[in-house]
Amino acid sequence: MYDPRKIIVPVGIALALVSCAKKQEIVIGGVFPLSGNAATFGQSSKQGMQLAVDQVNARGGILVNGIKEPVRALYEDDEGQPEKANNACQKLISRDNVCAINGAVMSKNSLAIAPICQSARVPMVSPASTNIKVTEAGDYIFRACFIDPFQGAVMARYAYHQLGARRAAIIFDNGNDYNKGLAEVFKQKFTQFGGTIVADEAFTDEANTVDFKAQLTSIKAAKPDFLYCPNYYAADAVIMKQAHEIGLVLPVGGGDGWDSPELVAIGKADVEGAVFSNHFSKDDTAAVVRNFVSEYRTTFGADPDALASLAYDAASIIMTAIGQCATLQPEKLRDAIKGLSLKGVTGAITFDQKRNPIKSAVILKIQNGRQVYVTTVAPE
Ligand code: PHE
Repeated sequence: MYDPRKIIVPVGIALALVSCAKKQEIVIGGVFPLSGNAATFGQSSKQGMQLAVDQVNARGGILVNGIKEPVRALYEDDEGQPEKANNACQKLISRDNVCAINGAVMSKNSLAIAPICQSARVPMVSPASTNIKVTEAGDYIFRACFIDPFQGAVMARYAYHQLGARRAAIIFDNGNDYNKGLAEVFKQKFTQFGGTIVADEAFTDEANTVDFKAQLTSIKAAKPDFLYCPNYYAADAVIMKQAHEIGLVLPVGGGDGWDSPELVAIGKADVEGAVFSNHFSKDDTAAVVRNFVSEYRTTFGADPDALASLAYDAASIIMTAIGQCATLQPEKLRDAIKGLSLKGVTGAITFDQKRNPIKSAVILKIQNGRQVYVTTVAPE
């Protein structure tokens, strides 16, 4: 008689073999602020990531488990808010089964999603989150950018040594990890170089603050010769405007959070001459950058900014690592990322023990409404 139990084992093995060789979809998630007070960050990041994915797919995709597969990118909007980032990340992991996440952009959002990725063992590469704590969530968490202890020091050094500043003032959002972290480093370094912090003014919630005049008035009374604004572009453009309105006219510096066309659109003449640290200059003459800039222009009809470039690099990190380990198995993918060395458009990338790349920063200056390259600062 035919006994179905007898064939269970061989069928099981056969199924297992079939499923090993099965087509496996390569899905990578992007968690970006596509709307909200940092929306240009999200739009640029999405475009940068998409360009990297399209280039890989134009070459036929990536070989995984012996089969060449196209890559599918899925984007979720975190609206610039940690709770939204949390939901976006959960969705990508449990609903869409992504093998890795490119995101988030704002440090506070990366801090919200890093523990989720870590416990789900989904490698996360933040393209742009510079706060020191982001990669401390665990060994599945990487980033494509330099960190704020470096970035804050770059501007402190530039202000003290290049601009000759000795009396610096700071105005920052104390409810945001990025702004707080940068302000802290700047203070420490500027003081270490021999300067004095003559005013240290805070506000809360830059997305909803419209009036900075109380803080700026205290700053003016302290007679600073430099003002550090380590916030995002929308708030800092208004801060520079209102500073001029109360007669506070002095050199101003900021961080990578200024990299948006909106800085000039909002601040106009009031942001002229201001300088900020950044990850990328489209005027870089390296071949890899020139090719990227020209492909990006052809595709999107605009120049790439730091966000687009970093998201492009983060996507390349993930896809190159998948190609190298030829599997989507989480530990193998994590180890492949860890061991990677990649010539990115934002510089050469290899990871240190804390999964941070060691990279140079550039200083850019707003001149005639454009970002003009000033100098490159190598890591210490
Ligand atoms: N570094 C910012 C953060 O951590 C994000 C950012 C990166 C913004 C690059 C602009 C350009 O929140």
